[in-house]
Amino acid sequence: MPQDLQQVNAPLIGVPGGRHLLDTPALLIDLPAMTRNIERMAAFAKAHGVNLRPHVKTHKSVEIARRQVAAGAVGVSCVTLGEAEVMVQGGIPGVLITSPAVTPSKIARLVKLAQRARPGDVMVVIDNPQNLAELARAASELTHPLDVLVDYGAGYNRTGAATQAKVLEMAALAAAEPRLRLRGLQAYAGNLQHIVAREERGAAAAALRETVAGIVAAARRQGLNFDIVTGAGTGTHDLDSQQNAFTELQAGSYVFMDAEYSRVLADGDQPSPFETSLFVQTAVVSTNAADWVTVDGGTKCFSTDSGVPLVAKGADAASRYAFFGDEHGKLMPPAGAPRPALGARVEFVTPHCDPTVNLHDAYHVVEGGTLAAIWPVDARGRR
Ligand SMILES: Cc1ncc(COP(=O)(O)O)c(C=O)c1O
Repeated sequence: MPQDLQQVNAPLIGVPGGRHLLDTPALLIDLPAMTRNIERMAAFAKAHGVNLRPHVKTHKSVEIARRQVAAGAVGVSCVTLGEAEVMVQGGIPGVLITSPAVTPSKIARLVKLAQRARPGDVMVVIDNPQNLAELARAASELTHPLDVLVDYGAGYNRTGAATQAKVLEMAALAAAEPRLRLRGLQAYAGNLQHIVAREERGAAAAALRETVAGIVAAARRQGLNFDIVTGAGTGTHDLDSQQNAFTELQAGSYVFMDAEYSRVLADGDQPSPFETSLFVQTAVVSTNAADWVTVDGGTKCFSTDSGVPLVAKGADAASRYAFFGDEHGKLMPPAGAPRPALGARVEFVTPHCDPTVNLHDAYHVVEGGTLAAIWPVDARGRR
């Protein structure tokens, strides 16, 4: 019978040293580090008077969402309807869908989901009058109005109305539509999150906050209230907590961090306020080449959009990794450094956490050398 990794590894739960006996490649969470990240962001938001609605596109896990809500988050943000369905099913409140639901099947699923949840617990962004009219029509099946936020493109323009005038037009239409309830404004600038130079990131984020504050003020003058003003990722979470432009943060990656975000958030000699808590453990499967060993993690194990994995444990930290096919990686220790032995475990920091998680079925949750639990990646692949 075929067995998946979590079935094979489950007997290791609680076994001393179980972390080092895992079948690989295994996605790992360092539980104490993740817990500190959740607590740090929650404390930061509280201290700065902003709400936190963490984005679950990073982890796709009901268990982690529960822990974020228990630490003070007002709910979660989801990018796909499938993620939102999984979160509502898991009892997570305050679910905001941060991308428009447009096709007839997505609109039908959205309405069904909103009916299943308590009023206010499912919200969706809108950026187009035609979509607004279609949502309103579909919402007539609901026993309560459908909660919507107007999406502003924020200069990024992946989704969102492109100008203040368009935002106000959408807001007025939503407010006048009895089958919809206007809840707020979304302004997510994905293009700012990974700007490495803090000054440059800070200036761009300040300009966006000014624009957002202007939109909110103009709406108020027209009698339109955005109770929720949501945006910000991990890269601008601290910047966007200033000046009361945003009422809440949607940061996601802070819970795990990755190689790219660690570079972005390190500020001069100040380390990142969040720790890496996500790793992939591989095993050395071949040692016959002179200059490298081969590990069992390749492009089906790590995302390939943001560079290469970095060694965290089990090999010289200066060893370089190169993708070596779907299921293999080439690990090149520096000259003179010891080479990991056949079967040795090597753990890596992921290049980009979100798309790496989506390549795995389960998290192996470790505390020190012990495997404490295995959690499913509940919303893996859910669209
Ligand atoms: C709309 C939206 N909000 C929030 C986030 C979370 O950002 P980060 O992972 O940078 O914290 C993302 C990430 O892509 C996003 O698309």
